[in-house]
Amino acid sequence: MDTKDKYLNLLSASKALIDKSVDDVANMANLSKLIAEHFPHHWVGFYRVSGETLILGPFQGPIACTSIPFGKGVCGKTWETQTTQIVDDVHKFPGHIACSALSNSEIVIPCIRDKNVFAVLDIDSTDFGTFSQLDKEYLEELISYL
Ligand code: SME
Repeated sequence: MDTKDKYLNLLSASKALIDKSVDDVANMANLSKLIAEHFPHHWVGFYRVSGETLILGPFQGPIACTSIPFGKGVCGKTWETQTTQIVDDVHKFPGHIACSALSNSEIVIPCIRDKNVFAVLDIDSTDFGTFSQLDKEYLEELISYL
């Protein structure tokens, strides 16, 4: 199955899985597992906005940093700019926060509701240059279901 078909499967499974009667944490927990099942990257998870900080939310993968200030790292930059960040080589990203020495590339998508970022979806890969515009397009669609 090619990447596009995997994303189409992931999107339809996500639509069926998301339960609007429960809070974001429950849906983020299932979504992080579902994404990791389709795309077994090094780390897949959410950070949630709390005041001036992103706080670690549901994830799949190794233990991670628990808080990230506004504007810091790839996640904080995503929050600040409200735009998806694709980083081909995290070692060249100014201020990258290395939660795992094994991560080499990363994509972070802002979760926006009523024009405000309430969380970010972060995916880390052990390979360089893993993520493309295709990933951005489908992951932004997936996040819009939250
Ligand atoms: N690398 C991220 C931190 C989160 S971890 O990758 C799970 C960053 O620079 O914001």
